[in-house]
Amino acid sequence: MASCISYLNERQSQYLEELLEFLRIPSISSLPEHGDDVKTAAQWVSDRLKCAGIEHVSIMPTGGHPVVYGDWLHAAGKPTVMIYGHFDTQPVDPVELWSNPPFEPVVKKNRVYARGASDDKGNMLAAILAVEALLQTQKALPVNVKFLFEGQEEIGSPQLSEFIPAHRDLLACDLILSADGGQWSEDQPALHIGLRGLCALQIDVQGARHDVHSGVYGGTFLNPIHALVTIIASMRNPEGRILIKGFFDAVRPLTAIEREQIAAVPFDDAEYKKNLGVADLFGEPGYSTYERAWSRPTLDVNGIWGGFQQNGIKTVIPSKAHAKISCRLVPDQEPEKIYELVCAHIKDHAPSGINVEVNKIPGHADPYLIPHDHPGNRAALAVHKELFGKDPYFIRMGGSIPVCGILLKALNAYTVNFAFGLMDENVHAPDEFFRIDSFERGQKAYCMLLNRLKDLKI
Ligand code: BES
Ligand code: MN
Ligand code: MN
Repeated sequence: MASCISYLNERQSQYLEELLEFLRIPSISSLPEHGDDVKTAAQWVSDRLKCAGIEHVSIMPTGGHPVVYGDWLHAAGKPTVMIYGHFDTQPVDPVELWSNPPFEPVVKKNRVYARGASDDKGNMLAAILAVEALLQTQKALPVNVKFLFEGQEEIGSPQLSEFIPAHRDLLACDLILSADGGQWSEDQPALHIGLRGLCALQIDVQGARHDVHSGVYGGTFLNPIHALVTIIASMRNPEGRILIKGFFDAVRPLTAIEREQIAAVPFDDAEYKKNLGVADLFGEPGYSTYERAWSRPTLDVNGIWGGFQQNGIKTVIPSKAHAKISCRLVPDQEPEKIYELVCAHIKDHAPSGINVEVNKIPGHADPYLIPHDHPGNRAALAVHKELFGKDPYFIRMGGSIPVCGILLKALNAYTVNFAFGLMDENVHAPDEFFRIDSFERGQKAYCMLLNRLKDLKI
């Protein structure tokens, strides 16, 4: 292990340069004009894996953005561990709020600023570099390793629910390590034992055939924007409780242990509000803030538009109104069922005399939960203890990683979250950054964990 760590130490300036090069590729998966950039990022990852000594490296088509696979399978009799990450990024808008152009990485005060730095290029590259260091210094790996890197996580991995079961034999493994996720703080580790799921839909409401004069026609028929807000208002009560029939039926209540684990995480109400810039917190009564964020489902309007948006007055009754709605889901809610329930609610609450259409937005994710004492988590805990000198918090994350649920179903293998981003790193926001210390810590931690996993018994 010592030789591996010094191998890494000697190469940090080169590795940082490589991270900057990776970050210069604007691999935004949601924008069609960046499709080729996602391919370029896949090529970059594939080249980097080959250079690290990984075998059978290939860029695999999925019907959407590609997947990069590679393996090293010469640890006979040892477990097979898959390392997961994503090389696509979120869009950069509003770009005017960035201090530097998002794909021209800047190093400042031990941080790398760029879109994708923390989510997830810095994290996934750290795992590749760890494997390179192990291979170079030990001439072998302690376990069999497979890599699965995708270019479509930030759009909900729409093709992976087919791709992964279709490649079950290639991807078979005992355990997955996700290099997408993070830690609690610079000196406090965390094990993420759950992720929320997701389902999203768009409502399109149409009234009159075209916009009409609000003086001539106002008061004679239903304005579609009013119809839309009536529908939306019927979905939650003023306290934030979701009113969709059947919505909570499959929700598994928190166990006493889970509530204790969440309560053990210090929570500073004033600081939380200050970070958000809000005067009050809001949400379902009966649950603490972290319980609501990690273990309760949500229904949120993510966008709403229609009618006149420019300066001044325009006396018109618009013809159309639209909204995008998404739900974060918790075990054992199923995205498809929740979508159906929300559709039924909309149908029941749509005022008459108006045309309401509902369409699913691709990118569903199942909620995900791993037993906190899973052998993979126990190994990760031991590494955290060694690195941070502290026991990790056991927390869930409110975000989603669609592939975790897909891998569990298709391969019957759990994913341990093992990543080193921190919560303040502006992921999905302007001025995203990654701490260089976390980049280095990630490399060392992956070496240590892979070494421990040679004794893994699932
Ligand atoms: N890495 C995040 C999810 C995450 C955030 C995990 C914080 C752990 C801590 C991931 O890249 C992400 O943003 N996922 C999307 C998925 C969606 C588009 C289906 C999300 O949660 O919004
Ligand atoms: Mn991510
Ligand atoms: Mn993300």
